[in-house]
Amino acid sequence: MNQDQLKQLVGEGARDEVLKLPAGQILGVGTGSTANCFIDALAPHKDHFAGAVSSSNATTERLLKHGFTVLDPNDVKDLPAYVDGADEIDSAGNMIKGGGGALTREKIIASMAQQFICICDASKQVPVLGTFALPVEIIPLSRGVVTRELEKLGGTVSLRLSKETRSDLGQTPSQAFVTDNGGWILDVAGLRISDPLALEAQINQIAGVITVGLFAKEKADILLVSNASGVSRLTF
Ligand code: A5P
Repeated sequence: MNQDQLKQLVGEGARDEVLKLPAGQILGVGTGSTANCFIDALAPHKDHFAGAVSSSNATTERLLKHGFTVLDPNDVKDLPAYVDGADEIDSAGNMIKGGGGALTREKIIASMAQQFICICDASKQVPVLGTFALPVEIIPLSRGVVTRELEKLGGTVSLRLSKETRSDLGQTPSQAFVTDNGGWILDVAGLRISDPLALEAQINQIAGVITVGLFAKEKADILLVSNASGVSRLTF
């Protein structure tokens, strides 16, 4: 089974998991290729939910295309579950997220939800977080100072660049990737994150940081993970 098939498998597993929730509730929906598989698998059952709250413009677009009702998070009080992928997850359910740049909205929706259901293939499971470069969303004018602060943690910091360079808009290949919130992303490589909760709090204290892509305070409650023999369900 290739990685796309594993993502599809776990997307279907997540569909079965959320359909156990009572009908008529609102669902939080994440961002990324695995979350996309979940959205596609859930689409025929969209009427089970009163609506969805979305963690990115890309996810909103996909949900609307399938006919889901997408709600403003400000209008939602009860969110039983949030389903999203991860770039890395450790054995306690702490995660690195933000490879797709949606970390801030993902963390907001995760904080609203009673349960974070993480969905991934087994390649995302790690003993210690940090092999995947840690994304940090920042206010653009703070790039210099935040870079220097992050370097003190021992990592190598680089500004994420846009993959979609629009020469018709006068963009050069070195154009910064811009998030849905107008922020930039610094990727911090080479960290070995032994205390995710402490590091999350420490990085959040740096002036200019919008969100760090460490999900320890908002860690996973349930992990659905796929491999060649099927989908396993772990709880933390
Ligand atoms: C988006 O910003 C991310 O947090 C994604 O949830 C994460 O990168 C996992 O994405 P894939 O499912 O595409 O690997």
